[in-house]
Amino acid sequence: MSALSLRDELPDGFFDPIFSATEVADMLALGGHALWVIEGEDGAVCAHLLVRVMEGAMADILSLYVVPELRRRGYALRLMAALVPYAHAEGCVGIAMEVRASNDAARALYGACGFEKVSIRKAYYTEPAEDAVVLALDLPS
Ligand SMILES: CC(C)(COP(=O)(O)OP(=O)(O)OC[C@H]1O[C@@H](n2cnc3c(N)ncnc32)[C@H](O)[C@@H]1OP(=O)(O)O)[C@@H](O)C(=O)NCCC(=O)NCCS
Repeated sequence: MSALSLRDELPDGFFDPIFSATEVADMLALGGHALWVIEGEDGAVCAHLLVRVMEGAMADILSLYVVPELRRRGYALRLMAALVPYAHAEGCVGIAMEVRASNDAARALYGACGFEKVSIRKAYYTEPAEDAVVLALDLPS
């Protein structure tokens, strides 16, 4: 069974498609960020969720990633299930993120978690240029 944990330091072999290991390590050192990882039986990190968390504000999902060979096994759902009570306990009013408009997998995942589209940010992404869809989930006060 793969193990999920909340980390305050970067695990060995960490890879993120958006941020470098140094950037993520700096975020963790700064505080106000939470990183969950799932490790396989071999100890290698196979999925992670990186979030900026601030009391009284929306928690902001910065990165959610599952290695391609382990997708559609519920790993992202497990990470999201860890985030929701954590963000609530930290006093966040909700959870939000931007996704590429064409990212059907992520949009389906967040929809399955109860997130709703709140706005579009035109031409938010580059390489390739694309709109962002802003999705949010309110948390009970
Ligand atoms: C998006 C991503 C994190 C999903 O991870 P995952 O572990 O495969 O997702 P799960 O197995 O937990 O999927 C849960 C549900 O989300 C939806 N979903 C996930 N991937 C999907 C896909 N490719 N197509 C359609 N629905 C999908 C389904 O409803 C799925 O439930 P089901 O498998 O019972 O149908 C993964 O595809 C990924 O890492 N993509 C690259 C990075 C990325 O786009 N991150 C999100 C932007 S921050």
